[in-house]
Amino acid sequence: MEKYNDLAAAACKVRLNSHSPYSGFRVGAALLGKSGTVYLGTNVENASFGLSICAERTAVFRAVADGETEFQAIAICADGKQPTPPCGACRQVLVEFGPQMIVLTVGEEGLDGPVIHSTVSDLLPEAFRNFQQTEDSTQ
Ligand code: THU
Repeated sequence: MEKYNDLAAAACKVRLNSHSPYSGFRVGAALLGKSGTVYLGTNVENASFGLSICAERTAVFRAVADGETEFQAIAICADGKQPTPPCGACRQVLVEFGPQMIVLTVGEEGLDGPVIHSTVSDLLPEAFRNFQQTEDSTQ
């Protein structure tokens, strides 16, 4: 989608700021808020491996901390020629803020390489949602 070209380019650019000395795998994310603001994220690893965080969640948490909780799209750009779709944990965090959010995934060649275009609900069907917020909850 041409509309999201800049978002993909921003994700590829911010990927270069990744702190990933342990995996050597750099990931960048650019999250487009309903307001039009773009929130950037990279994966940030730690010597205590389990403390590492993915690029997608870094971007979402930055946005939420800035007061934005509704999003149009997220672009994800990772090392390697093939696009790397978001991990399960990131899918669950993204669905919290909108199953219809567009997810554009590219490899290090950006839009010159292969692109996977989907939505969060495509990537995480039947997602867990807080039952108290589910319209058809009978509990
Ligand atoms: N990673 C992400 O940033 N996003 C994903 O969706 C999958 C994995 C990061 C976490 C870790 O720093 C590195 O990639 C290798 O797993």
